[in-house]
Amino acid sequence: MTERLRTAVLISGRGSNLRTLIEASARPRTAAEIALVISNRADAAGLAIAGGAGVPTNVIPHRAFSTQVAFENAIDHALQDHGIALVCLAGFMRVLSPWFVERWHDRLLNIHPSLLPAFRGLDTHRRVLAEGVRFTGCTAHLVRAEVDAGPIIAQAVVPVRQDDTEDSLAERVLAAEHRCYPMALELIASGRARVVDERVVLDGVMAPDDVVINPAPE
Ligand code: GRF
Repeated sequence: MTERLRTAVLISGRGSNLRTLIEASARPRTAAEIALVISNRADAAGLAIAGGAGVPTNVIPHRAFSTQVAFENAIDHALQDHGIALVCLAGFMRVLSPWFVERWHDRLLNIHPSLLPAFRGLDTHRRVLAEGVRFTGCTAHLVRAEVDAGPIIAQAVVPVRQDDTEDSLAERVLAAEHRCYPMALELIASGRARVVDERVVLDGVMAPDDVVINPAPE
C-alpha cells in the first residue's frame, strides 16, 4: 500500500467533524491519515475525541502569543515536526493570515455550514432563516486568504423547512457536513481532485446522491 498523506485537523471546540474525519480515515484504502490534532483551546471537547482514537494532540493557545504571526509560526512548527502534508480546519475559530494560507496553498481545507459563496462568516443558520432561502447546506473547500472563499471541492444541499429553528437546521446541516468533509479530504489526498484556474476538477468520481461535486472535465 502506498503511504498515506499525514493530515492534521485544527479545532477549537466540539470536534464532530474531526470525529468523522478520524473514522473515515480509519477505513481501509483511504488516502489520508489523521496524524495530529491542534487546538487553540485547552478545553476543546474534540481533544478527547482525538485522544480516544490515539491521535496525538497539541494545544497552542492563541492568547499565549503576542502576534498572529507568532501564533501561526507555532502551528506551522508543530505541523512540520509531525511531517504533516495536509491540514483540515474543522471548527477552528481563528482567522488565518495570508502568510499561513499561502504557505499551505492547496493543502488547507475547510468545511463551512452554508452553500458558499452565500452566507460567508458566522451565524449562517440565523441569517439563512432571516432571508427565507429555501435551500442551504455545506461546502468543503480549499482555503484562500479571503474568509470562507476558495475552490469548492464538494457541497451538500439541505432544504429549509417552514418550522425550522436555528438548532434544527444546524443539526441537519451538520449531518451533511459529516458526509461531505471526509469525501472532500479523500478527493484531495488521493489526487483525484485538482485545482485548475481556481476551480476544482475531478477525475471521474462518484458521489452519494445528496452530495454535489463539480463535474469531471470532458
Ligand atoms: C461546523 O458547523 C463547521 O462547519 C463550522 O464549525 C462547526 C464545527 O463543528 N466551521 P464541530 O466542532 O466539527 O462539531
